[in-house]
This record gives sequence, C-alpha cells and structure tokens, in this order.
Amino acid sequence: MTEEVSAQPTKPILTTLREKIALKPIWDNLIWTWRPESKREAGDAVVRNLLLHWFPAKVSLESLSWGYSFWLGTISAVLFLILTITGGVLMFLYVPSVERAYLSVKDLEFSISFGWFLRGLHRISAHLMVAAVFLHMVRVFLTGAFKNGRKAVGQNRPLNWIVGVVLLLLTLLLSFTGYLLPWDQLAYWAITVGTNIASSAPVFGEFSRFVLLGGTTIEQATLIRFYVLHCFILPLATVALVFYHMWRVRKDGGLACSEKRLEEEKKAEVPAVPSKTYSLLGITGGSSVDVRTVMVDDDATKVSSSPHLTVRLAVVTFATLVVSMLLTLIVRAPLEEAANPAVTPNPAKAPWYFLWLQELVTITTFTIGGITINGALIGGIILPGVLVAAAVLWPYFDKSPTSTIGRWLPRDRKWQNAVFLFIVIFILVLTFIGTFMRGPFWELYMPWQEWEQTPRRF
Ligand code: HEM
Repeated sequence: MTEEVSAQPTKPILTTLREKIALKPIWDNLIWTWRPESKREAGDAVVRNLLLHWFPAKVSLESLSWGYSFWLGTISAVLFLILTITGGVLMFLYVPSVERAYLSVKDLEFSISFGWFLRGLHRISAHLMVAAVFLHMVRVFLTGAFKNGRKAVGQNRPLNWIVGVVLLLLTLLLSFTGYLLPWDQLAYWAITVGTNIASSAPVFGEFSRFVLLGGTTIEQATLIRFYVLHCFILPLATVALVFYHMWRVRKDGGLACSEKRLEEEKKAEVPAVPSKTYSLLGITGGSSVDVRTVMVDDDATKVSSSPHLTVRLAVVTFATLVVSMLLTLIVRAPLEEAANPAVTPNPAKAPWYFLWLQELVTITTFTIGGITINGALIGGIILPGVLVAAAVLWPYFDKSPTSTIGRWLPRDRKWQNAVFLFIVIFILVLTFIGTFMRGPFWELYMPWQEWEQTPRRF
C-alpha cells in the first residue's frame, strides 16, 4: 500500500488546482453552503463562512416559523444595513454647511443621476426602521422573550431587552439627527419643535439643548453637530450594540421558544460503556469509572442552520430590499423651501415618531386658577422618562411563569400584556392624531377636512 502510493508520480500543484476547479464549477463553489449534502457539510457551511459563523449549527423549528418572530429583528438589521450603505454614498454628495446643505440635497433630487432614488431609499429605510424596531419590541414583549427560561445557564435575556431599549433610543436619535440635514423648512422646524420639548427637562433641560444645538438657535454649529452624530457617533454605537445584541441572542440559546416544548424534549440517558481497563502495579485490575451521560435528542425539534436558516435570511433580506425600493418609487422624499428662521410654518410639527410626544405636551398643558401647568415638562419629559424607566425595569418585576415564554398572548400574562398593549395603542392613537388631525394653530381637524389657512402638510 505504501509502495503503491509512493510509486505514483507527483503532479505539479498548478495542474492539480486546475483539475479541481474544472471538476467543481465556480457556481457550485459559491453555493455549496446553501446545498449541504451531509450533516457534516451542513455544520461546516455555517462554521466556515465568515458571514454566517455566528449562527449555531442547528436552530429550533419554532424560531424559524414565519409567524413567531415575524423576522422583525432581522428586518431591522437589514434596514440598518441599507441605511449604512446608502448613507455612505450620500456622504460623497452632501455638504454639511448652512450655505451648501440645501443646495446639495437639491442637486441630489434634480441633477445627479439616480440621486433622488438614493436619497429616497435612505429616507424610506429610516422610517421603516423606526417602525420595524418598535414592532420587534412589541413582539418580544408579547411573547415574553425578555425572560430567562428554566434552563437558564448563561442566559441573560433581561439584559438583552435593556440593550434593545437602548437600540430603540439610538434608532430614534439617528432618525432625528438625520431629519435636520436637508436644511429645508420641514427639517428646520421639526428640529425646533423637538429640541424645544427636550429643553423643558428640569435642571439640565436648557443646558442639554444648548449642548445639542451648539448655541441658542439652530445654525451652523447645530448642523455640524447633528451631522457628526448622524454619520459617525450614533451609527458606530448602534453597530457595536447590534453586534452585542446578536451575540447575546446566541449566548441565550437562540430565540426564546416555548418552555412547554422543552418539557416534551426526549431525554435519553446513555450509559457510558466502560471501555478502559487499568491495573495497579499488576496487583489488582478493573475497568474505568462508569460515567453516565445525558444526551438530549433534539433532532425532532431542530434543523441545521444551513440551509433552513440561511435561505430564510436571504428571503427576508431580499424582500426587505424590494419593499423599500418599491416604496421609494411610490413615495417621493419631500423637499420644501430652504430653511428660513423668519417664517414659522403653521402648524410646526415634530418628526412623526415624536408626534405622540407633541400630543402629550398639548394634553398636559392646562390652566388651573390662573396658573398654567407646563405640558412640555409633564408630557415631553416626565411621562416618556417614566415609560423608558418602566421598560428597562420591567423584566425584573415581571414574575409571570416561565411556561408563558415563547407563546403569543398566553393567559398567564393577561394583565401584563393588557397594560403593555394599552400603552402601545395609546402611543399609536396620539401619533395618528398628531400626523393626520392637527392643523393650523394645532386645531383638531378630521383627516378628510380641508385646513382653513394653509394647504395640508404632514
Ligand atoms: C436596531 C435595533 C434592533 C435590531 C437590529 C435587533 C435585532 C434582533 C434580531 C435579529 C434578533 C433575533 C431575531 C428576532 O427576534 O427577530 C433579536 C432578538 C431580540 N431582540 Fe432585538 N433588535 C433591535 C432592537 C430591539 C429592541 C428595541 C428590543 C426591546 C426593547 C429588542 C429585544 C430583543 C430581545 C429580548 C431578543 C431576543 C428574543 C428572543 O429570545 O426570542 N431588540 N433582535
């Protein structure tokens, strides 16, 4: 046998390589990870791929189902990727100076080839990301996926929930800082309203507005601050946290799936076969210590990540991209007159995702006995502050049973879900009113009613 092998003439490396490439067409080389032919190849497919190696070799069928997570976390991540790529290209064309910003956006809209599409895709993806991240949070809450299961070794889902809350705030800030950059009337006045709400915080309110604006009014210092925050600091912080968030999902044992399923899992006890013998100085002998192992048979509930997870990921990524592009074609990004501090639009509205705050400010502003209660403080700072604090602390106070994890709206979490849904619906209703029902002088109008003074604007 050894002689036969050594008798064969050695081929030059180049010839061997050429033969290999000819045998396996390039296409096959590219797609083999999507079509593994054995369990071993399925494992290799994720472990050896730079992009996929953070996935486990196997995932539970439950977490792959379309109707469990609605893939909202993945959709958020894809939208963030689209934003990073389109934003990177936009940086070549946009000039962050008060004199040039508006003109450079106008160039994008009207002179640069496909500039309007690039800008539109960036803007639509930003709006969609705010919505997707919010809905992702709603699904995580309603399925109790912020709770540790009973097999909680190394799990810390409450921490990942808190990371999520910070990610939601970062997403809002990213969108808010981007809003100012076109330097048109819409941008200028939306940021004026937003930062005015922020300034009503006690003690640090005025100071934080001053730091954010780089002065007392929105001007060049503000534009450059928002630009640096929008293009560098906030995206870097978001990337770092998204990576940590994903790593935690992996550490926490994948998506939180129903504990009931865990109970049903077959646990086959496999007794170890005493295979080794020993002898002590030839005086006495015996076989090795009998260690019993417990093997969990997860073949019934789990499948290999490749191709089951990878194909779904590709579908979700592609679908998100197509939907964003179609919406970009349908809804053109607005560009109003250049920013003019002397002309206040009536009504002046915050960006849509902060309109519920603007509404809260309106509701909580009232006069008793000649004293006006400051709504900006109650509605703009205290209530949202309480909401964020409640969101952060909720996993530590929610004592619902672990059997509720991974199930949509279980009975045992009735009141928790009722409170949460009440808040979500309240925020949505206020956002609707602020977007479609507020007209000049912040008067209430029906969505179909014409405004008296000025043409309708959202
Ligand atoms: C930039 C924003 C975010 C991105 C890109 C993101 C991404 C993801 C992804 C891809 C997953 C796994 C798949 C899925 O559940 O769909 C996930 C899971 C999770 N996310 Fe997020 N997420 C974000 C924001 C949030 C927010 C706002 C929260 C809650 C406040 C949150 C809490 C969680 C939790 C607790 C899990 C684990 C769920 C489970 O075990 O079933 N995430 N996230």
